[in-house]
Amino acid sequence: MVSRRSFLTVLFTVLVSFLSSILYGAIGIRFRNSRVEKHAETLNLNILKLPKPKTIGKVSVEEAIAKRRSIREYRGEPLTIEELSQILWAAQGVTDPINMFRAAPSAGALYPLEVYVVVKSNGVIGLNPGIYKYNSLNHEITKIREGDFSYDLFKACLSQEWVKNAQVNIVITAIYGRTTWRYGDRGRERYVHMEVGHVGENIYLQCVALGLGTVAVGAFIDDQVWSVLGNPKDEAPLYVMPIGRVL
Ligand SMILES: Cc1cc2nc3c(=O)[nH]c(=O)nc-3n(C[C@H](O)[C@H](O)[C@H](O)COP(=O)(O)O)c2cc1C
Repeated sequence: MVSRRSFLTVLFTVLVSFLSSILYGAIGIRFRNSRVEKHAETLNLNILKLPKPKTIGKVSVEEAIAKRRSIREYRGEPLTIEELSQILWAAQGVTDPINMFRAAPSAGALYPLEVYVVVKSNGVIGLNPGIYKYNSLNHEITKIREGDFSYDLFKACLSQEWVKNAQVNIVITAIYGRTTWRYGDRGRERYVHMEVGHVGENIYLQCVALGLGTVAVGAFIDDQVWSVLGNPKDEAPLYVMPIGRVL
């Protein structure tokens, strides 16, 4: 038979643990909420989710190939965020979310390329001038440098006027190690460079379909382009692609 004293002890223990679980839960939720808010603040400041890209357009692939030219003069009108979203998707967007395959082919699906956008003042409606890095997996851009770096990039590209005049410049870099661990020298000498060609052509064709103009720029001082990007570790710049509205 349970004595009155042991009954009260059990009741007390149950009550204490019940109250402490409520208290702990409340503190835990509050702590978690403050972390979520902090994370959201960071997102607001630096990360921009891009509009969903279209997979159906008005220009056929044949027309885009037929019309593609290297365009070096642009109207000084800003791009829209939808246009920028579409270009980045064409470059490296995920087109098969199950296998995480992307718009351009990649040897062994190792994806050694990174994509940056150098946005000049009034280059994209609603976007501050700066340098943004594209995140393929979430289709978003992260601001890594604030300010207009189009003049610095123009100097790094041997003063090619179209780099300075374009609304945005896409810069494609490579992290060779992602490919060479599997393919060795063949990865460094061939595969990574073949891949940047695929990405460049996708950007060219997407620009035609949007009524925009671009040109693949390979003549630049590597170290200077690299420092414009903020010296990203293990990355080597391969292409700069100025983009603007055709005249
Ligand atoms: C690897 C590569 C590097 C290039 N580098 C430059 C460059 O630095 N500056 C430039 O104005 N055009 C550059 N171009 C663009 C070529 O000049 C252009 O493709 C060529 O004149 C043919 O014209 P099209 O693209 O209109 O067919 C480059 C093209 C390639 C494929």
